[in-house]
Amino acid sequence: GAPVTVDISKIEEGQRVTYPWRGLPVFVVNRTKAQLDALPSQDARLVDAKSDSGSAEQQPKYAQNETRSIKPEWLVLVGLCTHLGCVPDFVPVMKPEPFDPDWKGGFYCPCHKSRYDMSGRVYQGVPAPKNLLVPPYHFVDDTHIQVG
Ligand code: FES
Repeated sequence: GAPVTVDISKIEEGQRVTYPWRGLPVFVVNRTKAQLDALPSQDARLVDAKSDSGSAEQQPKYAQNETRSIKPEWLVLVGLCTHLGCVPDFVPVMKPEPFDPDWKGGFYCPCHKSRYDMSGRVYQGVPAPKNLLVPPYHFVDDTHIQVG
């Protein structure tokens, strides 16, 4: 499949936009400072907080950090649940109801209730075994990301 170039200049803070790439939905999220600041508070409840236990394909080098990204605010993920491949919902609120109050939002899979944080890191005790996949991407310039 051909690489896809995404213009990120119109994605507002806190917004998620979905782009097709190789027939897959790719999520690009412009995370807020509050969302980034909340990430460390979730580490103890995650399966793979440092994103260092997956294959190179699932966790490229630039995703082996807390934000799982090249630039902290910009999150780029393949939007398919690592359980059975449903498309997770984006939950950009810090205290989503009716979930437990310590969840700071992220992604929720409606198929079998897997939850991920705002870096796509999977929580313990849900069916999904792994963090959401980070695709190959790079910044072409300050306002464009190329995926693939
Ligand atoms: Fe997402 Fe099963 S496909 S929890």
